[in-house]
Order: sequence, then C-alpha cells, then structure tokens
Amino acid sequence: MSGGVALVTGASRGIGKAIALELSSTHTIIAGARTAEALAPLRSQLPDLVPFVCDLGSEAQTAAAVAELGLTELDVLVNSAGVADERPFDTFTREDWRKQFEVNVFAVADLTARLLPALRAARGTIVMLNSGSGLFSYAGGSVYTGTKFALRTMADCLREEERTNGVRVTSVHPGYVDTDMGRGVIERKGPGQTFVQPRTIASAVRLAVDAPPEAQVEMLSIRPSRGTVL
Ligand SMILES: NC(=O)c1ccc[n+]([C@@H]2O[C@H](COP(=O)([O-])OP(=O)(O)OC[C@H]3O[C@@H](n4cnc5c(N)ncnc54)[C@H](OP(=O)(O)O)[C@@H]3O)[C@@H](O)[C@H]2O)c1
Repeated sequence: MSGGVALVTGASRGIGKAIALELSSTHTIIAGARTAEALAPLRSQLPDLVPFVCDLGSEAQTAAAVAELGLTELDVLVNSAGVADERPFDTFTREDWRKQFEVNVFAVADLTARLLPALRAARGTIVMLNSGSGLFSYAGGSVYTGTKFALRTMADCLREEERTNGVRVTSVHPGYVDTDMGRGVIERKGPGQTFVQPRTIASAVRLAVDAPPEAQVEMLSIRPSRGTVL
C-alpha cells in the first residue's frame, strides 16, 4: 500500500467504518473497536485489517493494545470513537460528565500521545472527529459540546506544537451524520433535520490525508445543505 498505515478508532460502525473503507484503497488499516466481534462486518469487507481491540475509556487497555501493535511508524491516526448524550443540564450527574469526557477527550489525548513518536517518525497526519458541537452551543448540549470544544482546542494546540515535527492535525466538524449516533440525536430533536452520509465525511478525511506535504488541512466543517441543522 503506497499510503502506509492508518489507525482508525470507532471503526466498527458509522463514520469510523466509512473512513476505514475509504482509506483502505491506499493504506493498511488498523481498525479500533471495543470487541473483535464488533469488527466482523468491516472484516468481511477488509479481510486484511489489523484489529485494535480495547475500551478506550480504560487507560490500561489502551496502553496494552498500543504496546501490542508495536508501531514504530504511523502515517495516519483517525480519532473517530465517541459518545453523545444530549439532555437538559440539570439531569447530568458528575459521573455523566466524567463518562463523556473520558471517551471524547481523555481517551483521544491518551491514545494520540502514545502514538506521537510513531506519527513523528512517519511525518504523519492526525484527524480528530469533532462536530458542529465543537463550534456552536445549544440547549441540551452542555456535556457533549463541552467535550467537543475541549477537543477542538486540544487539536489547535497540538497542531502548533507539532508544526516543527512535521505532524499535521486536522479537525473535522460534521453536522448530523446518518449513523447510530446521528439517528439517536435526531430522534430526540424531532422532525426537520437532515443527514450527511458517512462516506461524505470519509471523503473529507481523504482530502486531509492526501494534501501535499507542504500543506495541512486544519479544519473542515461539513453540514447538511437542507433542514434545521441545530
Ligand atoms: N453522527 C453524527 O451525527 C456526528 C456528528 C458530528 C460528529 N460526530 C462525531 O463523529 C464520531 C463518530 O460518530 P458516529 O456517528 O460514527 O458514532 P457511532 O455510530 O455511535 O459509532 C461510535 C463508534 O465509537 C466506538 N466507541 C464508543 N465508545 C468507545 C470506547 N469506550 N472505546 C472504544 N470505542 C468506542 C464505537 O465502538 P463499539 O462498536 O464498540 O460501540 C463505534 O465504533 C464521534 O466522535 C462523534 O462525536 C458524529
């Protein structure tokens, strides 16, 4: 494969799966999920994928899974795994806040830091699956937007730190996407919303990965062209 190696988290379903399929034409795919069984549908399309099985909410599992890969070079890291729980502010407990930050922020920071030496060695590209919720605030989104605003500034700071190391950092901000997560959010918000397809988000990631080495795509916002988007 001419493009090298790409690790995609959240590759069992939704946006991560579409990105893994898109990048598979040029990259060896390391596909992340919580269980090996969850990767079975993707594996039927990509028999050569390398599984990266761990609950990213567990630091110990993440450390063990990264060590098992033993990567010295990594060309692309796509952080797509995420969770969304949107409801009124006064219904969230401290534990609810912790759970969403754990997966959407702390796990991304931990995994990315562990893989940075390999990304530097390959002068690689990091893609953060952010959201319109990392750009706009709205009722019901206190925790989820909190995680995505944090992820946005984490990516912005990391990009500046890594400029001299040749590592590129792209934030991708989809609107509603036709996945389990997107359908769940729209169900709660009621009619009037429309979707972007996961493969469209995968095309945006392809644009960032394929940018010539002297350039980096820093931020992409891809939102439905019709309907009420927030
Ligand atoms: N869908 C939207 O409308 C939308 C819009 C904007 C941004 N986004 C962002 O895009 C990303 C992907 O969303 P999606 O719609 O594809 O979500 P999804 O269909 O719900 O899939 C979520 C993925 O994340 C994985 N995951 C969740 N918790 C995990 C954990 N603790 N450890 C390891 N993997 C975990 C899931 O693995 P399992 O199969 O093991 O559960 C699954 O592969 C997320 O960061 C989301 O915030 C989504």
